[in-house]
Amino acid sequence: MREVTICGQRVPQTAALAPMASVADTAYRTLCKQHGACMTTGELISAKGLSYGSKGSAELCRITEAERPMGLQLFGSEPEFMAEGVRRMLDFAPDWIDINMGCPVPKVVTQGAGSALMKTPELAEEIVRAAVKAADGKLPITVKMRIGWDEAHVNASEFAKRMEGAGVDTICVHGRTRTQFYSGEADWSQIAAVKQAVSVPVIGSGDVTSGEDALRMYRETGCDLVMVGRATYGNPWIFEEIATAVAGEPYQAPEVPERLREMLRHIRMILDTSDKPEKLAMREARKHALWYLRGEPHAAAFRARSAQLSTYAESEALVAEYLRSVGKA
Ligand SMILES: Cc1cc2nc3c(=O)[nH]c(=O)nc-3n(C[C@H](O)[C@H](O)[C@H](O)COP(=O)(O)O)c2cc1C
Repeated sequence: MREVTICGQRVPQTAALAPMASVADTAYRTLCKQHGACMTTGELISAKGLSYGSKGSAELCRITEAERPMGLQLFGSEPEFMAEGVRRMLDFAPDWIDINMGCPVPKVVTQGAGSALMKTPELAEEIVRAAVKAADGKLPITVKMRIGWDEAHVNASEFAKRMEGAGVDTICVHGRTRTQFYSGEADWSQIAAVKQAVSVPVIGSGDVTSGEDALRMYRETGCDLVMVGRATYGNPWIFEEIATAVAGEPYQAPEVPERLREMLRHIRMILDTSDKPEKLAMREARKHALWYLRGEPHAAAFRARSAQLSTYAESEALVAEYLRSVGKA
């Protein structure tokens, strides 16, 4: 398997798990890693929250060995808080620290953070310089950006060059503008343009949903690594699919019984890693449960019941009942 050095790590050139707030938590990252994700990144964490000692922010920094190589992701717009955030994150020993310049949500962009930084490249550069200084050579600083604020202001290549000049180790590009949020098609030609513009490694993100897509992204953009987000929902096997595609081998997707067994294991992992009582932790687990039969015919009742699950025992009963109903028990 071909390897690549990226975010300071030597990893197989297969696919990384994308950072996804409220989805890719510790259980999710561990599961995807077990299925072959070559690296993972935590959910975005407020530099200010962390600097002020927020317990929630610190909890999001916890890393287990099973999730490595893993980066932590920081968001904010003030260089001094970003530097302090980096210093606090160092205590959790991430493998690298990523700066979020892609988040589109109003709560983040109204503070001038996330994708709003693409409108203020000088500030973005200042933030990176402050973060690199705070990291003090202990770990790499990386950036995850979009291709611009809106269609009229696509500035991916110039912006990426600036980030490289400020000292980032790796640049991840989600091929959409901020105003697109997650809709429309990701523009891979902009990922290719960034790859041409910089000499640091580039990660491509946006719309990879199969092994074929991953090969096409490698081919069309020349990116050093592919990252997968939403296509992992209820489908951690996508990492195996991509690894087999990269190796030029045939891929056999898992059948429904195996998918549902893995769904139960995933729920168990959520419960085991949560500090919350079962009933509350099950609320987090519900959305994952219903994703496991996405696209499957005759699964409407399963999905509706998944949305109501409040104990692990109920999940087991639901799986057994579904398998009986489709003659696969
Ligand atoms: C629910 C959700 C949460 C996300 N949270 C983050 C985040 O915390 N940090 C980040 O850089 N990107 C975040 N993203 C963007 C993804 O990392 C990724 O770039 C984007 O979804 C495009 O890739 P995909 O088409 O493979 O999903 C999030 C995306 C989704 C769907």
